Amino acid sequence: MKAAELFDLTGRVALVTGASGGLGLRFAEVLAANGAAVALVARRADRLKDAKTKIEQAGGKAVTIEADVLDRAAMNRAFDQAEAAFGTVTILVNNAGVAHSTRATDVTEEEWRRIVGTNLDAVFYWAQEGARRMIAAKAKGAIVNIASVLGFGVSKGTIAYATAKAGVVQMTKALGLELAFRGVRVNAIAPGWFVTDINREYLSSEQGKKLTRDIPVGRFGQDGDLDGALLLLVSDAGGYMAGTTVVVDGGQMVALRG
Ligand SMILES: NC(=O)c1ccc[n+]([C@@H]2O[C@H](COP(=O)([O-])OP(=O)(O)OC[C@H]3O[C@@H](n4cnc5c(N)ncnc54)[C@H](OP(=O)(O)O)[C@@H]3O)[C@@H](O)[C@H]2O)c1
Repeated sequence: MKAAELFDLTGRVALVTGASGGLGLRFAEVLAANGAAVALVARRADRLKDAKTKIEQAGGKAVTIEADVLDRAAMNRAFDQAEAAFGTVTILVNNAGVAHSTRATDVTEEEWRRIVGTNLDAVFYWAQEGARRMIAAKAKGAIVNIASVLGFGVSKGTIAYATAKAGVVQMTKALGLELAFRGVRVNAIAPGWFVTDINREYLSSEQGKKLTRDIPVGRFGQDGDLDGALLLLVSDAGGYMAGTTVVVDGGQMVALRG
């Protein structure tokens, strides 16, 4: 089997949440470059428009859908719009996320709900809706949830985020178990540190830069470092994978300090 054939996504319809920038934009570009038509979902319409243009200029197919992942009515509309444009969504990348930097004793209820709502609750509701539609259409599908190394380890100031991401890892197992026999494979990717809007300020600071000392590969993740894991999980290459979380972190999680 040739690699291009194994990872080919021609005829597949993908929906990527948080596709207006960062990792989500890259995921959308990679899916489109390998044959999928992609629905780009996020709140910032201008950024989505730029993403669509970039994908189309590279020869791909995309549609933009403005939606807040916390809004259930907007979620249903987003799936409807993606279906109207390209057909049933058979690849869902649950990528939208927000981080915070607050010590546990200072986290407010509003902050907790926003971080856990976006990074955990929304991941479940979008996966649930995506799976329901795939099953109703009798289509085989793949859902990829974006977790984090902070779903396994913790750092100070990330209590709501780390708790939500650990929930995503566990949720992925539960969904993987329940849905695989119905033709929907659910897996996750846990990235290490990638410089994006979510952490640029911190990772660019003197303190942040020091984090590379704890990464065996010796650098932060960069564009392209998640392409392989994504393509593996959504394509036929990953046809026997369900409920698992693939860690892509330059070896950060297995390294002991010193
Ligand atoms: N970068 C890293 O080092 C890293 C490491 C581990 C995991 N992750 C995870 O990777 C995912 C992507 O993060 P990133 O680094 O690419 O961050 P980013 O550049 O800040 O992008 C976050 C994306 O999520 C979207 N988003 C946030 N809240 C939303 C909402 N309520 N509704 C709809 N879209 C929303 C944003 O779009 P709008 O603002 O336009 O809505 C944006 O497109 C997140 O789940 C994050 O936790 C990142």
